[in-house]
Amino acid sequence: LANVELETERTLAIVKPDGVFGNYTSSIRKIILDSGFSIQREATLHLDEDSVRSFYAEHSTKSFFPNLVKYMTSGPVLIMVLQKANAIADWRTLIGPTDARKAKSTHPDSIRAMCGEDLERNCVHGSDSYESAAREISFFFTQTFSEGTILKHDEL
Ligand code: PPS
Repeated sequence: LANVELETERTLAIVKPDGVFGNYTSSIRKIILDSGFSIQREATLHLDEDSVRSFYAEHSTKSFFPNLVKYMTSGPVLIMVLQKANAIADWRTLIGPTDARKAKSTHPDSIRAMCGEDLERNCVHGSDSYESAAREISFFFTQTFSEGTILKHDEL
């Protein structure tokens, strides 16, 4: 279809503890900007257990949940609100499959292939739908957006 205008969207990206510890934040930020996203908000946080449990509430009954909580509280994460046309699907494409081990063989150019290890240590997160993006963005950021403004960025 020609001339279809994709809607401008916002999505939530997280560089997980292995990405931050592995010093991947600047290369990930470069990929984000080179791919046409603007970074509307960013914050470096060390999440506590309650925050992780609440953020990933939909997975609370899964057997991997305790490991996910332990992992996501193991160090600081970089949280970003990304904006562009079709941001939600495009960010998911850029990060690649959830299992970073699979990403390395099937999507070698993806971010998870670059800096992830496996299903748990998969380096980055991306909202999976419009509803998730809205919930996840308001989970971390409450103030109204003004174009191009960075709310907070604590350098490590
Ligand atoms: S599911 O069951 O299909 O809904 O789950 P999935 O979308 O594959 O994964 C949801 C998030 O849980 C993480 N995950 C895991 N963490 C630790 N150990 C295991 N085995 C595991 N399996 C899945 C996975 O990385 C997803 O995190 P996000 O942040 O959404 O990428």
